[in-house]
Amino acid sequence: MSRSERKWDHIRFALQKRQNSLPFFDDIKFIHQSLPDISVSDVRLDHKIGELSLSSPIFINAMTGGGGEKTYQINKELAMVASHMGLAMAVGSQMSALKDKSERFTYEIVRKENPKGILIANLGSEATVENAKAAIDMIEANALQIHLNVIQELTMPEGDRDFSGALKRIETIVEHVDVPVIVKEVGFGMAKETVQSLISVGVAAVDVGGAGGTDFAEIENKRREKALPFFHQWGIPTPVSIIEASTIHQSSIMCSGGFLSASDIAKGLAIGANAIGFAGHFLRILVENGIESLENEVESLHYELKLIMTALGAKSISDLQSAPLIISGETYHWLSQRDIDTKHYSQRSIK
Ligand code: FNR
Repeated sequence: MSRSERKWDHIRFALQKRQNSLPFFDDIKFIHQSLPDISVSDVRLDHKIGELSLSSPIFINAMTGGGGEKTYQINKELAMVASHMGLAMAVGSQMSALKDKSERFTYEIVRKENPKGILIANLGSEATVENAKAAIDMIEANALQIHLNVIQELTMPEGDRDFSGALKRIETIVEHVDVPVIVKEVGFGMAKETVQSLISVGVAAVDVGGAGGTDFAEIENKRREKALPFFHQWGIPTPVSIIEASTIHQSSIMCSGGFLSASDIAKGLAIGANAIGFAGHFLRILVENGIESLENEVESLHYELKLIMTALGAKSISDLQSAPLIISGETYHWLSQRDIDTKHYSQRSIK
């Protein structure tokens, strides 16, 4: 099967499965504030992650390109939404366009549609420095994502089987490119030890890409004759992974994996993320209902997030990251087994 056919398979199978809300978000409860002392008009959603200034904490995460006309159209429409709504946007892995120049147009369109926006290039950890520079140039990217997808590759019939040397290659790329490098998972989460290793080689930010949303083991299993069911629901759930990561480096954490609502976003930010990526949920709305529906969805997510922040007395994302909350259930159990203190979340307050 060609790379281009595989890209379309990913979209097709991702859309087949309805995403349900992730129960781990229910383990996080904000402590109600009866005297928040602010108005909705005081709330600002702009925020910084490293050198990148974002006008919204929501970003469109890496999905596609490299599958001819159909993926060109999806990237074009996603870029229009990103431009109209002020969202940062990552493209899908650009390796296909590095191997086959005729696929470049499917990525280049995002810069044409969004000349001033924040765009993020994307490659796997097999990439060389030359690959990284070419991917960044292709879309005049403001940052580069390198994705880690070991479980997806192992499940993919034609996938990689050798993962040695990835950290060293990432370090070399970090040293030789002049945009911030973000390392992301694709839906299996990152443990704090992984985050520590990545930060220690100069990675600017991690997107913990936790389990609970789009499940690439399930998608790849649909493409196999004999499934590998033990990789279903493998991984670290998104909220757990955000907290693991934020014990290492609070200001460098982005996340994705199963976000569907403003409440999920507020909780993700409050436990330590600085930006929240949407992939499957946005793709479904775009493909099934079109650009206007996706823009309406982003608008209501922004508005509802402001309502939640008002209820908590949080005028900014930084304030929200000090909002007191309780962590219970399986999330609490996991974190205590990992010797991660959760009490400070319940004792803190917005100054
Ligand atoms: C993805 N994702 C992805 N990630 C990446 O780094 N490079 C890629 O090429 C792709 N391709 C891709 C295709 C499709 C159809 C989907 C739905 C997703 C993973 C994506 O960026 C994200 O990390 C996960 O999907 C988890 O987020 P959601 O989907 O649960 O919001």
